[in-house]
Amino acid sequence: MGIQGEQMSDTTASEKVDDEEIVIEVDEPGATVEDLPGVGPATAEKLRDAGFDDLLAIAVMSPSELGEQAELGEAVSAKIIAGAKKLANIGGFISGVALLEKRSQVMKLTSGTSAMDELLGGGFETQAIVEVYGEFGSGKTQIGHQLAVNTLLPVEQGGIGGEVFYIDTEDTFRPERITQMAEAVGMDPSEALERIHVARAYNSAHQILLVDEIQRMGKSVDVRLIIVDSLTSHFRAEYLGRGMLAARQQKLNRHLKDLKKLADINNAIVLVTNQVHSKPDAMWGDPTKPIGGHILAHASTFRLYLRKSKGGRRIARLVDSPNLPDGEAVFNVTTEGLRD
Ligand code: GTP
Ligand code: MG
Repeated sequence: MGIQGEQMSDTTASEKVDDEEIVIEVDEPGATVEDLPGVGPATAEKLRDAGFDDLLAIAVMSPSELGEQAELGEAVSAKIIAGAKKLANIGGFISGVALLEKRSQVMKLTSGTSAMDELLGGGFETQAIVEVYGEFGSGKTQIGHQLAVNTLLPVEQGGIGGEVFYIDTEDTFRPERITQMAEAVGMDPSEALERIHVARAYNSAHQILLVDEIQRMGKSVDVRLIIVDSLTSHFRAEYLGRGMLAARQQKLNRHLKDLKKLADINNAIVLVTNQVHSKPDAMWGDPTKPIGGHILAHASTFRLYLRKSKGGRRIARLVDSPNLPDGEAVFNVTTEGLRD
């Protein structure tokens, strides 16, 4: 707010226009929970008490989840969700021509393995969020390192140019690993490391702030790949228990929207990693379900589920892609990086 106020008074008209081009507003509806059909003061209070004061957060819930969180019946919840879907500015419309123009700028990044590139229809796409989820040691961080290096390659070699921003929440970024992978593709390791910017995020609030910082830096450098490894670990550790679930999901939802904005504005790839629930528990049950559930599924364009296989091999499964068939790719993690 303070910054905005300053800009209003201190900057010239042309600078303001420039800034408006960068700050694209997404999903900021004026409507509130009180505007939902069938929601009186008592229900509105229940929704707010459960942490639902954002229509989009309601729109992406399932009736049973919302009912449980806000102590409402499932039928009522379904009606509220339907109302929220109408009122929340979920996507915003642009013309088919504009969309085609935007899509024509999409670039594809090689994974370093032909199997995975094929699975993804030619590689990882810009203007998209890719979620890589799987259990510990399944190769999520290795994929992050490999894509960081490959991004720097020229387009003829499957790269997308530009720079890489790595938000490291678990302290698992290793420059030595970048050196190995860079050397393997004939790149000068110190030049590679120069173009990979790493920040350690100490908690979820810090992680969210770092996205703003990338947005600022994006005005002077070509941001092509943003990695958040891991997206969910801080959120999971900080928002404990059932009572915190709605608040956590809303924060995550907002964070993902900020990341999607970065991907769109910079024609960049956002790669987020996510662990699966490692032990079945009363709350979620399925040990192969990624943390974050609904909201993450809604926000990511591509989801890759990784699992370990025999002989150190790994299997990546493409899940729920909008325009690609589900399928699997087998790859290896070697000293040189990801290989077929
Ligand atoms: P969590 O973050 O713990 O959830 O796991 P992750 O999915 O990020 O796993 P990660 O990408 O860190 O994979 C670790 C595995 O990659 C190791 O168990 C090794 O099998 C492999 N790996 C990592 N570095 C090397 C390396 O230098 N050489 C080889 N050959 N394999 C490596
Ligand atoms: Mg990891």
